[in-house]
Amino acid sequence: MHPTIGIIGLGTMGLGIAQVFASAGFRTIATDAHAPARASASERMGQALAARITAGKLTEQARDATLANLQIAETLTEFTACTLIIEAIVERADAKQALFAELEAIIPASTILATNTSSIPVATIAATATTPSRILALHFFNPPTAMKLVELAPHAGTSTAALSLAREIAEAAGKTVIECPDRPGFIVNRCARPYYGEALALLAEGHEAEEIDAAMMAAGYRLGPFALIDLIGADINLAATEGLSAAMQNHPRYHVFAALKGQVASGNLGRKSGQGFVYPAQTTPKPNPEIALRIESTLINEAAWLLDEGGTTPEGIDTALRLGLNFPRGPFESLSFHTTETVLATLQSLAAKAPDALKPRYAPAPFLIR
Ligand code: NAI
Repeated sequence: MHPTIGIIGLGTMGLGIAQVFASAGFRTIATDAHAPARASASERMGQALAARITAGKLTEQARDATLANLQIAETLTEFTACTLIIEAIVERADAKQALFAELEAIIPASTILATNTSSIPVATIAATATTPSRILALHFFNPPTAMKLVELAPHAGTSTAALSLAREIAEAAGKTVIECPDRPGFIVNRCARPYYGEALALLAEGHEAEEIDAAMMAAGYRLGPFALIDLIGADINLAATEGLSAAMQNHPRYHVFAALKGQVASGNLGRKSGQGFVYPAQTTPKPNPEIALRIESTLINEAAWLLDEGGTTPEGIDTALRLGLNFPRGPFESLSFHTTETVLATLQSLAAKAPDALKPRYAPAPFLIR
């Protein structure tokens, strides 16, 4: 018998996360502060499930079972039966703290409180809690129903019991759970940065976006960095880059390149605006080992810096990037392929050629030097 799951916030992420648990047979209690979001939730989930029926991926019986597992709550008092409550509300620390405070006043001490935050330290959210040991992050990816990866991040005071139960529950819902430290961007949003950043550095040096995308596609990546920015939206990519840069004290590894800002300023956001760095053109793969090695070396270095900060493993980082970004291989798999010697030499030559302000981008992580 599965435990009961609570979901708070029925927007893009919350509704999808609720569907993940309800589909996996969990009784799922969900709510939203906005009445229309509550009123439309079952219908919206029904529409998402109907699309799967049309695609031949779901039976009507399975849809009915999923919808029967979803209970929309009008008040938080209905969440007292939950073993795990996941919040996917607005990305504001004060809102998340206030929600958890309200919940802690009514739920049992054993209930786990998980945040789906992308950018707020788990420690900040837990700082005002009565029982911080029950607080952790379960970071789902968009869309939660299709993306297998969940990043599990404790803060320093999270109990091992809460961590292992949260992992067990997410795995029972079919997810691959990777533990990571309570660091900005967790694994995926942080280790992805050089894929875009180094491509933008190449662009600034005079390479064409198509040439860079073609090189990465030829190296096995489904989408080149610019096609990926166009798909996500240059505005979303810029916000993520600026957010991480600020959280990492504006270290040059997270340098926000002018071309990305310019793209947003000009409104060429990518697919959603009809024009991007490369969109609507389709790029054909064309090998350029030098470009691929350069971008992969910076991906490896970022992952190595994260590894040196503790709380994760090379295998965990590799799995997270394969599942979270659809990369053909993780950075440590790339490292075995290229060898540490080649990666260090690449970083060294990039540092030598870079303008002074950007030289620290290429400082190798201690892991690579040991
Ligand atoms: P959204 O704006 O689509 O949905 C948020 C929902 O929460 C809205 O329906 C809103 O009415 C409700 N809400 C706001 N304050 C509330 C409160 N105090 N109590 C109850 N309900 C409240 O946002 P989205 O995109 O689903 O994001 C939710 C969380 O997930 C954020 O923390 C975000 O950073 C995180 N996240 C978002 C991803 C994405 O791709 N959109 C990916 C991974 C994490």
